[in-house]
Formats: sequence, structure tokens, C-alpha cells
Amino acid sequence: MEKITGFEISKHEKSKRIYKVKIEDQIIDKLIFPFHKFDVTALEYKPFTRFTLAKSLDDLTSNKLSNLINSILKERETGCFIIETNSENKKIDDIFLVKLSTAVTHLIGIPNHDSMAGKFYARFHVKHEDHSDSYLRKAYINMDLHTDGTYVKDVTDWLLMTKLEEKNAEGGETTLLHLDDWEHCEELSKDPVGRQNFIWGSPKSKNVHYKVEHPVFTEDEKGRPKISYIDQFPEPNNMDQGNFLQKLSDALEESNNKVITKLPVGSIIVANNYFWLHGRKAFKQNKNLSRELLRIRGSFFTN
Ligand SMILES: [Fe+2]
Repeated sequence: MEKITGFEISKHEKSKRIYKVKIEDQIIDKLIFPFHKFDVTALEYKPFTRFTLAKSLDDLTSNKLSNLINSILKERETGCFIIETNSENKKIDDIFLVKLSTAVTHLIGIPNHDSMAGKFYARFHVKHEDHSDSYLRKAYINMDLHTDGTYVKDVTDWLLMTKLEEKNAEGGETTLLHLDDWEHCEELSKDPVGRQNFIWGSPKSKNVHYKVEHPVFTEDEKGRPKISYIDQFPEPNNMDQGNFLQKLSDALEESNNKVITKLPVGSIIVANNYFWLHGRKAFKQNKNLSRELLRIRGSFFTN
């Protein structure tokens, strides 16, 4: 692995498939000025400004950072990295993290329009009280392993999640599973029902007013399985499809090869959305629980 000045790159302590990219304070200092050039509204309204941020980040590494993260994400053996920043550094606030996340994604590809938020990213809270219609904000229920973008037409090659804030949180660990580590991958990805088209809808809060059809399992160009799945949104058409989904859900959740890790505040996780599944453990009850996340999903550059 090539060295990049100002970055500490290592394998994650819980998985050889996940890279940890620590950004040192000297890089943060160098980003303050270029990041000040645009406010968040400019980033939302003028897409080219996002590339300007991305370039200022990559320029600090002589373009080594973009090469590194693209190769990690596209490589089947890995496909995931976590960027960590110094949690003591007062210069890193939520706005800085929105900008840093924007810069990172624009070294990888183009973000999809997030219908829930009406922009290229979404910020959302998980709190003690919740009246929403999906598991996303239900703090005390496990969010089962899934991939993103199952119910939209947009290509969702990757996803990014940034932890902007966390208070009074016990539990709520991130769970991750790589398809090639999953005990039931061979059996279920070859099941003919998993290769059938399923109908995928979504609840109101997602603001997606159509349904899509696609199988749970497809294959990449080398014949390796890819998955597109979440428990809440497929609408099984018959007993075979219903039973298949139940079996799949059980087989994913009972896996012993999940990576369970606590992401520090100020960290950014990016994963390939075809062979990594992600989820969240339930939080312990606390009236003052508050977590804020940012998410961006999108496609790889194609040229
Ligand atoms: Fe998700």
C-alpha cells in the first residue's frame, strides 16, 4: 500500500476487508481555506462546486487518495473503507463533515438525488421518539442487514455514511457483512427464486412514487454474486417469493461473520453496495438519545 503524507492507512481491527484511513490534523488545516470557498447552499445548488472541493482534497495527496479509495471500493476482496478524523479537533464540525463527505464522494462518482431529502445528500436523526414509517429512525429495533437503493431506478454502486453527532448512545453499533464471508451465499444466491424479479416499493417518507422490479441476486462480469436486498420493501407475489425472503432474512441475521463495530463521531464509512450489506444494532433505551447521520449514495464514474 502506497504511503500518503498526512494520512494513516491500515486494515480495520475487525476485518481484513475494510481499510481505515485516518486523516491527520495537518490535512484538516489545509482543507479549511478551500472548504470556506463555498457554503452548503452553494454545494446544493451548484453541482460543479462539489468537484472543486473534491479536487482540493485530492490535490493535497497528488491524486493518490482518489486512486486508493477507488481501488479499495471496486476490489471484491475489500470494497469498504472508513475515514477517521481526530475527534478532539474543534475545527471539524458538522458543516466541515458535510463538505468532507461531499469531497470524498466526488472522487468516486456521482451522487444520486436523495428523494427523502430532496438533495444530493440526506441528514437525519435517530432519537428516542419516532413516528416515521421505516426502520431507518427506529432506535430500539435492529436495522437488519441490507443494501441501499433497492426501490429506486438509480444505479447505486456505493453508499457513504457519516456520523455527524452522537449523544447518550449505548448500542447502535454498525453491522456489516461481505457476501463472500456469508455462510449461505452459495446456497441462496443460486436459488432460482432469488434470480426472479421481485417488486420493490417504499413507504411514503421516501418520496418515491413508483415501484421497481429486479431480482435479489444477480452476477458481476466474473460470475460472482451481487445482492440488492432490504427486508421492508420487496412485495412478494407468491408463497415461493415470500418463503425465499424469510429464509434469506434469517440466513443473513444469523451469520457469525458479521463485522460489528462502533463508528466514532466524525467518521465516514464508504462501501460497495453490491457485495457489502450494512445494518445497525438496536440502541439501549435513553430519553436523550440522539444520533445524526449523513448519507450519500451514487454511481461510479463511467468515464
Ligand atoms: Fe442503508
